[in-house]
Amino acid sequence: MSEPVNVWDYEALAAERLEAGAHGYYAGGAGDELTLGENVEAYRRWQLRPRLLVDVAGCSTATTVLGHDVSMPLLVAPVAFQRVAHPDGEVGMARAAKEVGTIMCLSTIATTPPAEVAATGAPRWFQLYVFRDEGVTRDLIAQARDNGFTALLLTVDAPVRGNRERDLRTGFAIPDGVHVASMGRGGVTPKEVFDMVTPSLTWRDLERISSEAGLPLLVKGILTAEDALLSVEHGAAGIVVSNHGGRQLDGVSATIDALPEVVEAVAGRIEVLVDGGIRRGTDVVKALALGAQAVLAGRAPLWGLTVDGEAGARRVLELLREEILTALQLIGATSPSDVTRTHIQRARAQ
Ligand SMILES: Cc1cc2nc3c(=O)[nH]c(=O)nc-3n(C[C@H](O)[C@H](O)[C@H](O)COP(=O)(O)O)c2cc1C
Repeated sequence: MSEPVNVWDYEALAAERLEAGAHGYYAGGAGDELTLGENVEAYRRWQLRPRLLVDVAGCSTATTVLGHDVSMPLLVAPVAFQRVAHPDGEVGMARAAKEVGTIMCLSTIATTPPAEVAATGAPRWFQLYVFRDEGVTRDLIAQARDNGFTALLLTVDAPVRGNRERDLRTGFAIPDGVHVASMGRGGVTPKEVFDMVTPSLTWRDLERISSEAGLPLLVKGILTAEDALLSVEHGAAGIVVSNHGGRQLDGVSATIDALPEVVEAVAGRIEVLVDGGIRRGTDVVKALALGAQAVLAGRAPLWGLTVDGEAGARRVLELLREEILTALQLIGATSPSDVTRTHIQRARAQ
């Protein structure tokens, strides 16, 4: 293939590079993978409504997320086990995020400890899974706080692991030489890691975790207005509308379709982000038009990391930033905050 020019090209190259177990783990979803496919497909059912003859010469993709300046409304989503994709792992991903000017979200089940990611100087948030062992959770929160992570993403859509059949078929396990930092060892399966996560987390735990950490907390995995309201009531600083990239409950709606009801319920009280299926700058602009402050991308930068380590992750993030800039200019917006509900409509039935 000639030089990859978009996320799809990186995805195809990554599929060639990865062995079957790792590829199935990264690319796959739960059950029949209905939601996995929907996340991408649903963006095609929304269409942009461009406004023309606007001076877009000075257009910028820069914005803020929870008060942090970012160069674009796209953050790096927490994705587990990145050193399995490429030896640069989470450090390479963090450096790429830093160079491009956005936030790196580090997974609880990363293959690099928080201190090493902090040493890159990348702006960083920490994704938290709450473990059955309270001591482990307390230690993770302390590591996040002490290493300058500025927010917690509490993932709430994974009280148990989704039914990932590709992993059953391949028997995917983290290779021996790769350590899961929060477990201090390698040679484990994703299922064994998940068995350590508590299935008993409830809304009551939210405020406790946030105040224990002394960090703003975003609830990651919300899909309904009801849970959006509870997030606000329980002191969340933000919401990530997410279905875990189609890897948890199969058969839930695409996140872009769940976004409007969450935005309406929240009514501007806290920031709403969305992830799942972001492959194009136009996807990002559609999410902004439906009320998201920003998006997170999981697989897209991961494919870049797989193909060319830090440089590949950076290139994917740069490509997305260029695409966001072009899309903003072509809809007649000069910044992400210019994008409104009037810039989008449901595709007319065929
Ligand atoms: C391989 C892989 C591992 C993931 N690991 C985590 C994780 O450890 N914690 C978490 O909250 N979300 C995890 N996610 C979900 C992402 O944070 C994000 O919600 C999802 O990837 C968004 O969909 P996208 O991949 O289509 O961008 C993972 C996703 C993938 C693809």
